[in-house]
Amino acid sequence: MKSNRLTVNLAGLKLANPTMLASGILGYSAETLEGIVAGGAGAVITKSVGLKPRAGYANPTVVQVDCGLINAMGLPNPGIDEFVKEIRQAKKVLNVPLVVSVYGFSEEEYAAVSKKAADTGADALELNVSCPHVKETGSEIGQKPETLSKVIKKVKAAVDKPVFVKLSPNVTSIADIAEAAAKAGADALTAINTVKAMAIDPETSMPILGNKLGGLSGSAIKPIAVRCVYDIYERVKVPIIGCGGIANWRDAVEFFLAGASAVQIGTAIATKGSSVFRAVSRGIDAYLKRKGFKNVGEIVGLSHRC
Ligand code: FUM
Repeated sequence: MKSNRLTVNLAGLKLANPTMLASGILGYSAETLEGIVAGGAGAVITKSVGLKPRAGYANPTVVQVDCGLINAMGLPNPGIDEFVKEIRQAKKVLNVPLVVSVYGFSEEEYAAVSKKAADTGADALELNVSCPHVKETGSEIGQKPETLSKVIKKVKAAVDKPVFVKLSPNVTSIADIAEAAAKAGADALTAINTVKAMAIDPETSMPILGNKLGGLSGSAIKPIAVRCVYDIYERVKVPIIGCGGIANWRDAVEFFLAGASAVQIGTAIATKGSSVFRAVSRGIDAYLKRKGFKNVGEIVGLSHRC
């Protein structure tokens, strides 16, 4: 939908509305991303891609629990050299910004993958420094401020596109990590990735996921994510992208009031389909109109007044 109330300039990216596809289960094919844009997303983020192809973990990789999903896919991906074909195709068919999610096992790998993605046409990069269970990448990088800083600086030196950094909630102080990321040059911070979790089957007495441990997403983690956005907003001036359990306009507005400039939606697509983006945007627009705001930017961080 088109409404001046919904437009956002996110670190230089122009979004017609503040809803974005979260990096996650979807997002390796241009066709899937096209479907998400048809559902009303203002921008899309791919699933994370690395330097080399990775098969990921054995099944099961996703389990449904109360109020959410636990997933442990193991960062399966075709590798950036294959994935550039999808980036090229996506750029031909999408009329919204395309953000490529990147992971690596070293600062050099993060930079090399980011550069290939950017050179192929990605409008921005989102660094996955928060996957909670793949060894030597993800949160093993994002939990260490010094290592995280080196990764961000290396990527920033390699690309001239905005660099978003997706943070983990599985840390003592997400504000400390956010501050390190901001100082290193992050253009925006995404909060949050999944919460480390597991599920056990009473019949088999065994963990359900192939990897045993996974990451919890969905409405169960929304209050944690809102708190993280709130904490980060108090500490840094960098734009924040809220992520975690957003399924309707009220959820989205809560994130804006906490300090987010845009929101990502992922797990809700499983139950609501891709039209969830349009439904959320319509609800935000109606809320802004009812409250007399001219643009969504006017409510960012409003809950911090007292
Ligand atoms: O298993 C996975 O591919 C999950 C990645 C993530 O949570 O970032």
